[in-house]
Amino acid sequence: MFDKATYVNRRAKLKELVKSGIIILFGNNESPCNCPANGYSPFRQDSSFLYYFGLNRDGLVGVIDIDNDIETLVGNDIDIEDIVWFGSVDSVHDMAESVGVKNSAPMKSLKTICNDAMRLKRRIHFLPPYRHDIKIQIFDLLGIHPVQQKEAASMDLINAVVKMRSTKEQQEIEELERAAVIGYKMHTTAMRLTKPGVTEKYISGQLDGIASSYGAMVSFPNIFSQHGEIMHGCPSMAELESGRLVLCDCGAETINNYCSDNTRTYPVNGKFTQRQLDIYSIVEACHDYVLDVAKPGVKYMDVHFAVCRLMTERLKELGLMKGDVDEAVAAGAHAMFLPHGLGHMMGMDVHDMESLDQINVGFDAETRPRLDQFGTNCLRMGRRLEEGFVVTDEPGIYFIPALIDNWKASGHCAEFLNFDMLETYKDFGGIRIEDDVLITKDGCRFIGKDRIPYHPKDIEEFMKNN
Ligand code: GLY
Ligand code: MN
Ligand code: MN
Repeated sequence: MFDKATYVNRRAKLKELVKSGIIILFGNNESPCNCPANGYSPFRQDSSFLYYFGLNRDGLVGVIDIDNDIETLVGNDIDIEDIVWFGSVDSVHDMAESVGVKNSAPMKSLKTICNDAMRLKRRIHFLPPYRHDIKIQIFDLLGIHPVQQKEAASMDLINAVVKMRSTKEQQEIEELERAAVIGYKMHTTAMRLTKPGVTEKYISGQLDGIASSYGAMVSFPNIFSQHGEIMHGCPSMAELESGRLVLCDCGAETINNYCSDNTRTYPVNGKFTQRQLDIYSIVEACHDYVLDVAKPGVKYMDVHFAVCRLMTERLKELGLMKGDVDEAVAAGAHAMFLPHGLGHMMGMDVHDMESLDQINVGFDAETRPRLDQFGTNCLRMGRRLEEGFVVTDEPGIYFIPALIDNWKASGHCAEFLNFDMLETYKDFGGIRIEDDVLITKDGCRFIGKDRIPYHPKDIEEFMKNN
């Protein structure tokens, strides 16, 4: 939690941007796993509620009445039974006070606040809900059916939140640096533990332990798999096999809920084959290219397509692609290998603000994504970069047997792809290299002082000596 002034100032700016009406920011509730007393752990607060109210406790709602300049923290004080089981916590009044909110009220008063506002036909702003309990709460309070709530959410509030959360404050950057330190420990531990015979799940479990012992938790479920071609592949009980690559995409959340998100791909036995290096060096070049060109004013969509062209050029040299590079990328042929975007915003959420919809977070009037083309429809970030943005740089090359079969059967992009050669790569897996990048005044830099090894020589040396 930052100091009181941080939250007071953020809410003041939010009021200025939204201008009028009443803002309701729902905090999250505990989420039962298999019974109410056994919740998914640890509790995760909603990031926008945290951003404006800073309080990491379940069962709270923040109300900002802009027109009357009244801020209220809504929530129920705990009773003696709660204290017996969970210990004592601050009263809602004291919690409100700690973040500069003058008023507090019990949860039942939220219905009255909403009824009064609706009677006066005042604008009620809320963000698109993503948890079912909150959808039910909104239905009860405002009478808007869950299927209509995304549409009914306030664009003015969404735009204001995106504007504010996109540009990271210095104290947020420091928190992201702390997440990177934990992420570094996770990744180097995974590299150290990677040996033939060890299971994917064992290593992934060790990473969970590191994340929760130094911070709040992992920033998303670990991807640790020899099937690197599966974008979000879960770790399995499979044993690591010499000769194969393993892809590790994982990150940590600090105790204050700021994230890291890195990916490394390395050989199980610690030594790349020439065939693996041929593909790896292309991903490495694409990854490093971003650092050279990302800066304020540059559209991330343009960087994405420049990477696609570089990748296509290099895959042509290997014989996996053919034809004119620009035409191939325009046709979306590169998506056979790179079916996702170059990166996404990152911050308190690993895909920052994704619950507000990527179209509102990563795009604007001049950068609408093409939704009609496989691969391009997955871009999460396209708009012009600004100082203080944090984005991921995560190119990859994947050989997805089902996709190869699918495109080969339909002849999709056949003029740009060498299907005979692709057949011989069906057992290859996939490679991704990912780092988090802060956009600075005139360029960019990695988040994280220590680099998780990613140049092949550095990986081989690390795996030999650790
Ligand atoms: N961890 C998922 C991603 O890199 O976007
Ligand atoms: Mn990742
Ligand atoms: Mn990512």
